[in-house]
Amino acid sequence: MSNAARLDLNARARISAVAAAAPVVDARAAAAAQQTVSRWPGYAPTALHSLSGWARGLDVASLTVKHEGSRFGVGSFKALGPPYALAREIDRRRAAGAAGPFTAVAATSGNHGRALAWGAKRIGCTARIFMPAHTSAGREAAIRARGAQVVRVPGDFTAALDAAIAEAAKDDHILVADVPFAGRDDVARDTVAGYSVLGGEILDQCRGALPTHIFVAAGIGSLVAAIVARLRLALGRAGPKVIAVEPLSSDTVRRSIAAGEPVAIAGEARSLMDGLVVDVVSPVVWPILRDGLDAALAIADDQALATLRDAARGAHGDAPLEIGETGIAALAGAVLAARDPSLRAALGIGPESRVLAVACEGVTDRAVFDTLVRGDAAGAVA
Ligand SMILES: Cc1ncc(COP(=O)(O)O)c(C=O)c1O
Repeated sequence: MSNAARLDLNARARISAVAAAAPVVDARAAAAAQQTVSRWPGYAPTALHSLSGWARGLDVASLTVKHEGSRFGVGSFKALGPPYALAREIDRRRAAGAAGPFTAVAATSGNHGRALAWGAKRIGCTARIFMPAHTSAGREAAIRARGAQVVRVPGDFTAALDAAIAEAAKDDHILVADVPFAGRDDVARDTVAGYSVLGGEILDQCRGALPTHIFVAAGIGSLVAAIVARLRLALGRAGPKVIAVEPLSSDTVRRSIAAGEPVAIAGEARSLMDGLVVDVVSPVVWPILRDGLDAALAIADDQALATLRDAARGAHGDAPLEIGETGIAALAGAVLAARDPSLRAALGIGPESRVLAVACEGVTDRAVFDTLVRGDAAGAVA
């Protein structure tokens, strides 16, 4: 195996994933999310891009990217989850007699806040977004441009999340996060249901020739769990292998799969794939991952950067694709897994394999992206 990667296979993956998914997102919750989100103005399934030159070089039948850059003009898959969860929570509060106005609060290293700002504006709700100190000015500007207030917090993402939790607790604001809050986890579960729309799109778009392997970036694990749940609800134990991809410096999903229980990352991690840097896997989706995720692969920043540049310049004769430095993780993991003989063997990748990578974001900060593509990576992390 490549020195700069770690892989753990999950022996439990095909035993009971549907049962594990049910308390988090069942068929009814997935169908409700699909129905609601597909009625939002501007909805369209995100495009699939076939990288046939790259696939030939890697000796696989196909390599496809599902590109979330065009999602609702927000730039990432996050437009599916937090906005859906916020709308559902406002419905619940109204049903319980609250008149509003409502304020949504969240912590973000970029995409979550941008998506929530967009979703809040869409339904006339105020948004207050807490950001760690190191996140780029361009990402803050993109959130402000969508009408949200931004509060900078000294420290990392966890510090920002703590600040958002404190604010929500103080003023009864709506915390839109992937973690349980005040003894409830319905917002976190609705976020997963919203993301499951992406899994439904893969099933529709690939009908007739489903991928054999789907690579998905993981931070706290909600997105990859949503895809696992949606696929297993539709296909049972059959169907594509789902592989989570994380930075080596923040591989809580991989460590947790290896240990059979959530394992936190010690200390303050940093990675080029900043949106994936978290402390620990979400307890809300952990049962889905424990019983449904096929494997977790941790990769180095160098691998992500090289893949970002190859995609951007249209290497191997394929059309150029602009994918941000967090969003590139899944494609970087897929390329590495197909190229590295021991990863390839462990994951059962061969000439017949149809590999799909979810590019979770497009370019979310043009200045950072251009700097990365030009080659001055050191100054551009986060
Ligand atoms: C582009 C991108 N991909 C993947 C993720 C990871 O999603 P999750 O935290 O649900 O695992 C994030 C999280 O912010 C992200 O911004």
